[in-house]
Amino acid sequence: MADKKHVRLGVNIDHVATLRQARGTTYPRPLEAARLCVEAGAEGITIHLREDRRHIQDADLHELKRELTIPLNLEMANAPEIVEIALKAHPEEVCLVPEKRMEVTTEGGLDVAGQKENLRSTVQRLKDAGIAVSLFVEANRRQLEASAEVGVPYVELHTGTYCDARGAKAEQELERLVEGAILAHSLGLKVNAGHGINLDTISGILQMPHLDTLNIGHSIVARAVMVGLREAVRETIEAMSHYTGGRGG
Ligand code: PXP
Repeated sequence: MADKKHVRLGVNIDHVATLRQARGTTYPRPLEAARLCVEAGAEGITIHLREDRRHIQDADLHELKRELTIPLNLEMANAPEIVEIALKAHPEEVCLVPEKRMEVTTEGGLDVAGQKENLRSTVQRLKDAGIAVSLFVEANRRQLEASAEVGVPYVELHTGTYCDARGAKAEQELERLVEGAILAHSLGLKVNAGHGINLDTISGILQMPHLDTLNIGHSIVARAVMVGLREAVRETIEAMSHYTGGRGG
């Protein structure tokens, strides 16, 4: 049997904030969720500070940065306002992603080849601040070579298309990810991967060589609802069991 290799899990907790924002409450609190992830063995916490602030807020970023005992990975667009926030907050890692306002989630990899100069200056500023920078890219030669030229230590390969595919298309997409990981490694890039990974697709993803970290969000938060619902209902019924008839009854 082949030797085991350790792959780190980074948990994306954006959708904890999505639940909070849906009601404008103070809970669920991303920091509390992050602490549970750390207790369970996560080696990184990922958040995406979107320009429209639909889930994670600036205060979450600052609180997580202040309180977390493991590396914080900030996903963000290469947008001037957000770059300034990142430089001030100083997360351990930044992953630059493309961002469109109307998208439900990040839809594809960054076009690094098409905006090399623009990315190079942001990457340099983040690197000069001591932040480990990653680019979220498709597993193709053009984007990976451009990423190496831009001078990042990491790429995060976009696994969403593979995770959504079935049958022959899935096999083809997995081959593309495997080849992408090999090429990225040969270019001196460390290889992370993320998007759309769940317990059904993870065994395929683990066919990729040279993996450093998998960043997984939606499926973990969705699963947490299912494994936690029983306890949440029990707690509520327990609280209701103290009923003595109410006032004036
Ligand atoms: N990696 C990147 C760059 C992403 O944009 C996202 C989604 O925010 C993820 C990983 C996590 O994807 P998912 O929520 O589908 O697990």
